[in-house]
Amino acid sequence: MMRIARLKVRRGEGEAVPRYDEFAVPFEEGATVLDALLWIRVHADPTLAIRYSCINANVCKTCTIAIDGKVGYACTTRLVADRQMTLDPLPGKVQLRDLVAETRPSQSD
Ligand code: FES
Repeated sequence: MMRIARLKVRRGEGEAVPRYDEFAVPFEEGATVLDALLWIRVHADPTLAIRYSCINANVCKTCTIAIDGKVGYACTTRLVADRQMTLDPLPGKVQLRDLVAETRPSQSD
């Protein structure tokens, strides 16, 4: 049965005041946050910046974002129906664009 996930996604390039876009994404039980972000890029907004590489193996860690304030992998976190999920780039890092944060170590690290 098709369900609808409601995602509130951080946008922009490090603005002081966070800006979010909201998307309603149809999904099948078992689909992940990364599946929804890829759906958004194809069907709603091709400009959405995300980062991932291994897709569903929990290995590359490049899809790490904040999901409802908790750090997690977009590719393994399951979508839920009828509740809004808020997605932010990794906390404590510089937002480069949308859900992509600067993950290279800075000079001071
Ligand atoms: S895409 Fe590699 S861990 Fe999520």
